[in-house]
Amino acid sequence: MSGVPVITVDGPSGAGKGAISYMLAKHLGWHLLDSGALYRVTGQACLIEGVSWDDHPAVSEVARHLDVVFSAASNGEILVAYKGVDVSGDIRTEEGGRGASTVAAIPAVRAALLQRQHEFKRLPGLVADGRDMGTVVFCDANLKLFLTASATERAQRRYEQLIAKGQNVNLPRLLEDIKERDARDSSREISPLVPAEDAIVIDSSATPINDVFAQVMLEVKKKGFI
Ligand code: DC
Repeated sequence: MSGVPVITVDGPSGAGKGAISYMLAKHLGWHLLDSGALYRVTGQACLIEGVSWDDHPAVSEVARHLDVVFSAASNGEILVAYKGVDVSGDIRTEEGGRGASTVAAIPAVRAALLQRQHEFKRLPGLVADGRDMGTVVFCDANLKLFLTASATERAQRRYEQLIAKGQNVNLPRLLEDIKERDARDSSREISPLVPAEDAIVIDSSATPINDVFAQVMLEVKKKGFI
């Protein structure tokens, strides 16, 4: 599979990775891997199958046999189906995030999802969004970006997104959740959330998304992709 260019976009939740990865993939006409969605579906599948997130052998079995299909809606949004049922909304809730972060700390779950992630690497290229894209899954990526922002700013952004979706949310609770999830994702033994040594780190706390995208495009140009 060599010869397929890969750009990795890692960072904590709410740093704008999803938006930047989507814009980048669209602009370049490349494939997009939302690796967080795979962990979210695994957590959701456990709820559906009646498996506790703490039952590591059973969760790993769910991950190994995950019947998940990604498809694009007419508005460009990525739809996610588990066993043929649309779970796109369910996996994007705060509980969905907690489940994903919990099951993602299980080594056998990460191993089960690795091959699926590699399968996204296809011509003309791949933009891979996650936590360990540049450090583990695609460590030979051509360009590695690490997007970050303060926890307060990320909580505020998440709050506005959820309110716009009509969900009932509480800002201090969101901030606590984000800090808890950061701690769990950064301190786990396997594939912790850290920038790759050769990653370009971009702090988007005080930068509007379009300016972050412009900064990213400069790096993409430097690599000769456009
Ligand atoms: O990017 P996201 O918020 O959808 O990710 C949800 C959770 O999944 C996140 O808290 C940690 C986990 N995750 C991971 O461990 N590795 C990835 N490559 C992507 C997500």
